[in-house]
Amino acid sequence: MSAVAIHPLSGAGRRSRKPSTATARRGVTRGLPADCPVQRSATRTSTPAATAAAAATSHREPILRAGIRSLEDGLTHYTSNSGILELRQAIAEQIHTLYGVAYEARSEILVTVGVSEALYLSMVAVLDPGDEVIVPTPCFVAYQPEVVLAGGVPVPLPTRVEDAFQVSAEALEALITPRTKALLIGYPNNPTGAVMTRERLSDLARVAETRDLLVISDEIYDRLVYGGHQHVCFAGLPGMRERTITLGGFSKAYAMTGWRIGYAAGPAPLLAEMRKVHQYTIMSAPTTAQIAALEALERGESHVQAMVAEYDRRRRLIVGGLNELGLPTFEPKGAFYAYPSIAATGMTDEGFAEALLGEERVAVVPGNAFGGDSSFVRCSYATAYDKIEQALERIQRFMRRHG
Ligand SMILES: Cc1ncc(COP(=O)(O)O)c(C=O)c1O
Repeated sequence: MSAVAIHPLSGAGRRSRKPSTATARRGVTRGLPADCPVQRSATRTSTPAATAAAAATSHREPILRAGIRSLEDGLTHYTSNSGILELRQAIAEQIHTLYGVAYEARSEILVTVGVSEALYLSMVAVLDPGDEVIVPTPCFVAYQPEVVLAGGVPVPLPTRVEDAFQVSAEALEALITPRTKALLIGYPNNPTGAVMTRERLSDLARVAETRDLLVISDEIYDRLVYGGHQHVCFAGLPGMRERTITLGGFSKAYAMTGWRIGYAAGPAPLLAEMRKVHQYTIMSAPTTAQIAALEALERGESHVQAMVAEYDRRRRLIVGGLNELGLPTFEPKGAFYAYPSIAATGMTDEGFAEALLGEERVAVVPGNAFGGDSSFVRCSYATAYDKIEQALERIQRFMRRHG
């Protein structure tokens, strides 16, 4: 599934229309409050936001150089099955620094081909045929298929916008059967941008403990949180380290999707089972990419900070813009997605997405792709600020016809 969902396409055979910032402001951004970043950019040419946007991409060069240098230096062989030890140590150190959870780099960290592989390994390692995994929805498109691929049975736990897409302990309890093996969560959430409060996560932790569930916690968006929210690492909650597999990676915070590096962190016995599957299917994650990932961890912190500022700017633009257009949008506190309700249009999510793509060349993803209900679509703001402005203009035109 492409991460870039809201994306005004240039359109073959059409005249390329790239409105100036001023033109864009005449559209949906007109009337936004004075402290809105769009308004601010009208009055200054070099703003802190522009600086943040530039800093947000400046990290790519050193990461690229580290990868190229490693090839030139002849580092073109397999690494340890678990990944380069220095990288595992840096990952363990980062988790410890940020969340106070200690992992032993040699036995409790496994470097994988993205979180995608780590997710698959955790399912294959943990599930016996017919085991049930409770999966709060809407969720990342791969969660339920990965459970099925491993012979398990996904049990969706629907969350609602009215509850800020939070999972309650009662709802979780209600779905537990003798076959329930694990809970698979992903916060900050793709597609809603929801985060879970410490209190809610602690409620789930109590259920996991009393009902003896494993927890697979996909925290790939941990660094991308806004509005003062502090990410809570599930494994850091009392008693959870020993029953949690934490998944993380480089695709989101460092915009390194194509490098394909992720990791799993968890108790040694579980990681040993995952390593067996990894060893005989993958051997080791790509060497060049591991070296690039180490560079990102060691020297990329300023980039992460800049990127969070930049995403936050885009987040406020898109959420404000969609709400103004009559598409009520939940305020995302993490990741880089907005999840507007399209119920007012009377269209289904698929109908809306197809019509918007066909008529205005703007791509959004239907909510049902994430196991959500069909009155929502997902818009990604992992694209340039001016493209989001342009997309909002086009959606405004679309809404005049369909709203
Ligand atoms: C929640 C979530 N988990 C995992 C992935 C896959 O990440 P990776 O590129 O590390 O395989 C994505 C990608 O969009 C995602 O949104």
